[in-house]
Amino acid sequence: LKLQNAPVVSVVPGAATVRQGESSSFRCQVGSGAQPVQLEWKRANNQPLPDNAKIGPDGSLLTIANARPGNQGQYRCVGINSAGRSSAQAVLNVKYAPKVRLTPPGPLRVRIGEAVSVDCQATGRPRPTLSWKRQGSTLQLVTKETNDWPAVRPEDSGVYTCQAENNEGMTEVKVEIIVEGGLGAPVATVSATEMTVVEGHTVTMECQASGSPSPVITWSKLRAPLPWKHTVAGGVLTLTSVGRQDSGQYICNATNIHGYSEAYTQMEVDSPPYATCLPDQVRLQPGDALRLQCLAHGSHPIQFTWTRLGRAGMPAGAETTKDGRLLIAHVRQSDGGTYKCVASNHIGSSEAVAKVTIKGELMLRPGDFKSIKCFFYTLILSFFSSLFIFAA
Ligand SMILES: *[C@@H]1O[C@H](CO)[C@@H](O)[C@H](O)[C@H]1NC(C)=O
Repeated sequence: LKLQNAPVVSVVPGAATVRQGESSSFRCQVGSGAQPVQLEWKRANNQPLPDNAKIGPDGSLLTIANARPGNQGQYRCVGINSAGRSSAQAVLNVKYAPKVRLTPPGPLRVRIGEAVSVDCQATGRPRPTLSWKRQGSTLQLVTKETNDWPAVRPEDSGVYTCQAENNEGMTEVKVEIIVEGGLGAPVATVSATEMTVVEGHTVTMECQASGSPSPVITWSKLRAPLPWKHTVAGGVLTLTSVGRQDSGQYICNATNIHGYSEAYTQMEVDSPPYATCLPDQVRLQPGDALRLQCLAHGSHPIQFTWTRLGRAGMPAGAETTKDGRLLIAHVRQSDGGTYKCVASNHIGSSEAVAKVTIKGELMLRPGDFKSIKCFFYTLILSFFSSLFIFAA
């Protein structure tokens, strides 16, 4: 009788600590158990091994090269033979210098009396300690983790630094806070914050600014250059003959030495419809389907109406849709003619026509000619045969 024993494995070292970028190895040793013993390495949470982990040819040596923060954790060696399995684990610690993130990243513009808060978050091993400092001062700022932030004062403007430090290093990230609206700072106002105008018209937008010294006023358009037909004089922006593409947000910017102030006017340009028919001519045979589409540019909503020129009503079986289509499933001879589409919106209307020709029934097909000829021959023949009968 031969006793079969499950393997007994152990891992050396049981724990290792490396710096980010360094390498580390663990050896799995088989203490006892029936041979052969097969060795496998796993992460303790049954996740796959990282791509920078290598296993030696006999399966016993696990090496983690160029360690990353994410490699930290437990690694397990499993020994398997015919009698069973057992496992042992080791811990890898990866130390790294802090990484810092500020939310929001800044620069931050705050008006006097408002509150501002910046969140500094850092990762690192060992866990870093955080501190806020103000540039030009060695004093550490008292930071609060509550929601009652004090109102900012003009003298709070400046560059602030969040510093995170552990044994591996020190990392700092800066944020600039600009307090606006001190005495004499500009305040811009526009005469209208929203306006709707009709295409082709001339538009004026007025901007006024208080402040000392007297602010300089500039106009711009959000995410686009100003239309080329524009003039600016004394804070008034004039746009001549506006088109639909001139719709958008216009920004008045008033600037002086104390800061700047922006005011916005949202402008929409409305335009009457411009209609076209697709197709504008069509030839069909009786029984074919008629499909016409009326297309229109212009401000929405647009309504479409179809009529037939010179006729009181639309043919029976004609269907129209809200989006401007006209459908007749099976046209008849009498459905030919000129169809008119009228597209209208709250500014105006436009019309377009389509000519529909139905051909076929009045035209003779080649077969018809043959039967007519046959008919004539029969007539002539019967005429001659009657002559013979008379002669006889
Ligand atoms: C307004 O002017 C200030 C200062 O010149 C500038 O920083 C800011 O970007 C301007 N705003 C716009 C919308 O042009």
